[in-house]
Amino acid sequence: MDFALTEEQEMIRDAAREFAQKEIAPVAARFDETGEFPAETIRKAGELGFMGIEVPEEFGGAGLDAVGYALLMEEIAAADAAHSTIISVNNSLYSNGILEFGTTEQKQKYVTPVASGEVIGAYALTEPQSGSDAGNMRTRAALSDDGTHYVITGKKSWITSGPVARYFVVFATTDPSAGAKGITAFVIDAERDGFRRGKGEPKLGIRASATCEIELEDYRCPVEDRLGSEGQGFRIAMTVLDAGRIGIAAQAVGIARAAYEASLEYVRERQAFGQPIGGFQMIQAKIADMKMRLEAARLLTLRAAWNKSRAKAAGLRNTTEACCAKLFASEAAMFITHQAVQIHGGMGYSREMPVERYFRDAKITEIYEGTSEIQRLVIARGEIGLR
Ligand code: CAA
Repeated sequence: MDFALTEEQEMIRDAAREFAQKEIAPVAARFDETGEFPAETIRKAGELGFMGIEVPEEFGGAGLDAVGYALLMEEIAAADAAHSTIISVNNSLYSNGILEFGTTEQKQKYVTPVASGEVIGAYALTEPQSGSDAGNMRTRAALSDDGTHYVITGKKSWITSGPVARYFVVFATTDPSAGAKGITAFVIDAERDGFRRGKGEPKLGIRASATCEIELEDYRCPVEDRLGSEGQGFRIAMTVLDAGRIGIAAQAVGIARAAYEASLEYVRERQAFGQPIGGFQMIQAKIADMKMRLEAARLLTLRAAWNKSRAKAAGLRNTTEACCAKLFASEAAMFITHQAVQIHGGMGYSREMPVERYFRDAKITEIYEGTSEIQRLVIARGEIGLR
């Protein structure tokens, strides 16, 4: 067993760290305050190849593996979680499904501009009445009589990058009587008629990552923009989430690391009762518990990332590995950011220090791309042999 990174992986980690600390960290608090979309830093991230880390070079990406992607996500999230959310949707939720299930033409048309950061991509699965129960969607796609296009009508909610994205991977039912087996995936272009952006979501954390509803009304989607075959959509959605959850795990590790490092610095400097608070055993216990969870979360995350291509080559799913990583890392991030606020005391509660932002940002990692309850359900079903 070798835990060392390859030279290429070290290069992407170092480049991401330099960019994140120089360009993102200094503006993170301001964008969190205003909730404005950080278009300029996202444009620069695109120029550096960070919007398509796993996208093959022929489609404009960096051609790296899932470990490279996880390393990128940790570094960006350690500077600002909102930036890492935007970057994650382009890289994984949007691009992965097209890369794995799309035609060469679809990859050229829909992945290449997103991998370069020229336009933003998004993923639309959730609906107002179906979050965890993703198969229970109402958005309807009906094939036209002449078979040239689908007419899609429905509403999708909680769409990350919805307010700014040009292309969306959208899931709709082509056969409502067939449940999950009746779901089909499509690529939607926001510049076509029948597409509308709905209300924005004011959020607790990752505030600079724009989120809104989208509505489709008699949207005419050419058949060549259907992703995979009719009825394959739910499998596409779940396969994409298996990859996406590794990115969220890495995001949680990044947020947790930032909170941990801030705490270490604080306990060395902050004086109480005549000594730095790091000298007190109650603080030391917190530091040890934070460190242990941070290391374990990173190991599970990198293991899931490392296993992604191996599982695929063996015809296996990487579901359990991804869910374990996301579940553990997100709960570790909540624990670590909570302790960080506690260690900082009043300063931890103040908006003048970044730890309260880490605490707010960490919470989303337990919710999106499948709640902790859903991760537990999926892991247990796999272990017991129920899937
Ligand atoms: N890979 C491939 N296929 C899969 C799969 C996977 N990981 N998981 C399930 N499937 C297949 C199953 O094999 C099954 O196919 P068959 O009938 O042919 O065997 C089919 O999909 C249905 O699976 P289930 O019976 O397990 O479906 P279910 O309805 O009981 O449960 C669920 C599914 C696991 C609960 C699923 O609905 C789920 O993951 N829910 C959470 C959804 C989620 O993560 N939403 C987040 C949206 S993205 C987001 O957060 C927004 C953002 O922008 C960041």
